Amino acid sequence: MDVRRDEHVTKKLYIETVGCQMNVLDSELVVASLRKQGYVLAADADEADVVLFNTCSVRQHAEDKVYSALGRLKDAKRSSPHKVIGVLGCMAQKDQQLVFQRAPYVDIVVGPGQLHQVPELIARAAAGAGPQLEVSLGRKDGSRAEIERSHESFDPLRDPQMRPTPYQAYVRIMIGCDKFCTYCIVPSVRGPEQSRPPSEILAEARQLASEGCREITLLGQTVNSYRRREGERTWRLSDLLESLHGVEGIERIKFVTNYPNDMTGDLLEAVRDLPKVARYLHVPAQSGSDEILRRMKRGYTVRDYLEMHAAIRAAVPDVAVTSDFIVGFCGETEADFEQTCALVRACRFKNSFIFKYSERPGTKGADLYPDDVPDEVKRRRNNDLLAIQNAISEADNQRFLGRQVEVLVEGPSKAGSKQDEQASLVQLVGRTPCDRIVVFDGNRRQAGRIVPVTIYDANAHTLFGAVVTQHVGPEVFSVQLQA
Ligand code: SAH
Ligand code: SF4
Ligand code: F3S
Repeated sequence: MDVRRDEHVTKKLYIETVGCQMNVLDSELVVASLRKQGYVLAADADEADVVLFNTCSVRQHAEDKVYSALGRLKDAKRSSPHKVIGVLGCMAQKDQQLVFQRAPYVDIVVGPGQLHQVPELIARAAAGAGPQLEVSLGRKDGSRAEIERSHESFDPLRDPQMRPTPYQAYVRIMIGCDKFCTYCIVPSVRGPEQSRPPSEILAEARQLASEGCREITLLGQTVNSYRRREGERTWRLSDLLESLHGVEGIERIKFVTNYPNDMTGDLLEAVRDLPKVARYLHVPAQSGSDEILRRMKRGYTVRDYLEMHAAIRAAVPDVAVTSDFIVGFCGETEADFEQTCALVRACRFKNSFIFKYSERPGTKGADLYPDDVPDEVKRRRNNDLLAIQNAISEADNQRFLGRQVEVLVEGPSKAGSKQDEQASLVQLVGRTPCDRIVVFDGNRRQAGRIVPVTIYDANAHTLFGAVVTQHVGPEVFSVQLQA
């Protein structure tokens, strides 16, 4: 750990993160930059000198959660005025000064394109310079080049301790989004779509591998729109996958989130031909009604989506496809909703994330269409669609009974981490190449390895299995003997 005790007393940092994988990665990087300055992590906000919230604006609920957490800090700030409170991420970019108005005891507000400034801004606030605001330009506040420059990709340092497990890491390959789906706030808070240079991405993957990381998940809002010219060639996601496949030590590569229109043949061939690439594609459909898709400005029809889905199945038959859906978007009728149910039945997704439409001020959707589906209707549609999806997930998971799968072990499951530290056998959790969750008993030392597991039970969300001890390599076998 990089802790400098010479200049100042060690300071304690507490950080809470909501939102998508981009935010999880941003928090990891912010923590890494503060650790460089001598900060250590605190267990809770009370004992921390600096409290940071990395925020999300995708739905109202995500914002409400942060404002109420900030409300709970009001008294703490009164009794310890030197505590520095920061709001980072998408809601900071969206609300800007409004954060100070709603919570006047907040010290720093920093957008996702300005996170490299966090250490400096904290230092300034701690030195008594008053409230600090650093955000990027809005989508209409300058030329494209100026706006792009104001959203800096923040990928400097890594901090293995902040990752979900030491064996898994996110790698950002793009920032921003240019699709402007009418319901979505992401293009305004994350700025223009920009792909990172392949050489930087490869260097980062090699570094992660040298630190013991076995699985990388490439991140982009529309990850399969990746395009970057370097040297003589233009790199697409398929080219990047091929190069990353050669990085020794990396055993699995995933990528999220895919945009249906950019699911090209070269990418499907890469998924088919590169064994380290997970058999898993998250390609959100959002709705099964052409009229709703048109109003969402998704740029495809239900027929286009079905054709894309058929192309995936034809190219990589064993791939698991997952989706997101928004229910109760403006003007969604019962008939529109029925078409969404039909799409879920037709595609048999591995799982779907289902969200009730939440109007986002400043989006085209909020300007053009009234949010006219009552909340109880949204809730019912959400539950109904989830029930359809769960039945499919459960039935499809039953097909794994008796089958052997290769599981990348993440570590003890929730139950396993409560078991006796000394116990040799604990409940472990890991994932198959098609991203299904597998729970089984094993040795803690199997974390980070790929082990064969036979499945004996399954529900909609989890496969349950036992480690196969015959016909396996000596490495796994010796671990069993030491148990
Ligand atoms: N870039 C990704 C993810 C965007 S946000 C993509 O294009 O799929 C993740 C999900 O949140 C979206 O897929 C969408 O289903 C949902 N979402 C986005 N805006 C929303 C809103 N205003 N209300 C409800 N759900 C929303
Ligand atoms: Fe939002 Fe659409 Fe961009 Fe995804 S593709 S981040 S849903 S605007
Ligand atoms: Fe939320 Fe920002 Fe991600 S709005 S979903 S944290 S890009």
